Amino acid sequence: MRHDPFQWPKPCLGSGTTKLLGVFGDPIAHSLSPIIHNLALSRLDLDYHYLPFHVTPEHLPQAVHGFRILGGRGFNATVPHKEALVALMDDLSDAAIRTGAVNTVSCQDRLIGHNTDGHGFLAALRDMRPDFPQGGKVLILGAGGAARSVVSALLETSVEAIFLANRTVERAQALARFFAPHDTQRRIQPMALAVDQLPWDEVTLLVNTTSLGLKGETTLPVALHRLPADAFVYDIVYGPQGTPLTRLAQHHGLQTMDGMGMLVHQAAAAFYLWTQHEMPIAAIQDHLRQRANADRQKAD
Ligand SMILES: NC(=O)c1ccc[n+]([C@@H]2O[C@H](COP(=O)([O-])OP(=O)(O)OC[C@H]3O[C@@H](n4cnc5c(N)ncnc54)[C@H](OP(=O)(O)O)[C@@H]3O)[C@@H](O)[C@H]2O)c1
Repeated sequence: MRHDPFQWPKPCLGSGTTKLLGVFGDPIAHSLSPIIHNLALSRLDLDYHYLPFHVTPEHLPQAVHGFRILGGRGFNATVPHKEALVALMDDLSDAAIRTGAVNTVSCQDRLIGHNTDGHGFLAALRDMRPDFPQGGKVLILGAGGAARSVVSALLETSVEAIFLANRTVERAQALARFFAPHDTQRRIQPMALAVDQLPWDEVTLLVNTTSLGLKGETTLPVALHRLPADAFVYDIVYGPQGTPLTRLAQHHGLQTMDGMGMLVHQAAAAFYLWTQHEMPIAAIQDHLRQRANADRQKAD
């Protein structure tokens, strides 16, 4: 009898023909990517297995080399490797060049670095709000690696202005300089994360890309009461019941989304690059929500 494709763990983890995929990160234990990819592989009955690898920054070049020697077909990268991988690739996709970061690597004759985060960000947004972000102004909180992908994706749309607010203002300024060649209309405006001085009342989309909220913290400085009533709040952090920011925004009557959709969409784009198969996105999202609910009930 065929096993339940969403049963975890899979009863068999591979044979001599199984192809290897993985994710490199430091830390890595929290990553949902192995669950997402192995569920999709299992559901589509594809002979691959996806493993998490704890790779420290000083070992990244050896890890890439070793993975290739072992016949690995492709891997994802998470914090802190996305930018360092750029220099280790033989070739880069347009999105990786534009973003200056690699989150997906295809290992064929050559190592090809891709970036699917920006695609994931926009695809998840358009699932919820197909009309977004047309025109309008966007306020992004944070200017780290994730903000880089979000800005890169938004520059491909018709947004009117991108206010980029960061605690360390120099980092927001550096990001604006990095994108300057693609930002001929000077849409990116770097600024300090000074809550009283941010243009809350002008924006139709608020995006949190800071790491705040990941551990349930509520200290992100925001003035949600100043957002227009039809503004959309998109927190790319994700949590079992949304995030502190999405919960607060809902309390203000605003429409919200957390980062789970982005996570699954960026994974689906990587999955397609490696396997040429479409990930069953809706089924994976349902499964992750059910899992999160079960974890929450266990914790209550
Ligand atoms: N949903 C998805 O698919 C997806 C994909 C990628 C990332 N993410 C999430 O996005 C978040 C950020 O990732 P990243 O790669 O951009 O991390 P990162 O490069 O380390 O950047 C962290 C950002 O958070 C800001 N920050 C940290 N602590 C802060 C505080 N106490 N007050 C104000 N700002 C603070 C940093 O500001 P400074 O520059 O001032 O330090 C920086 O802008 C993580 O939670 C990650 O899980 C989600």
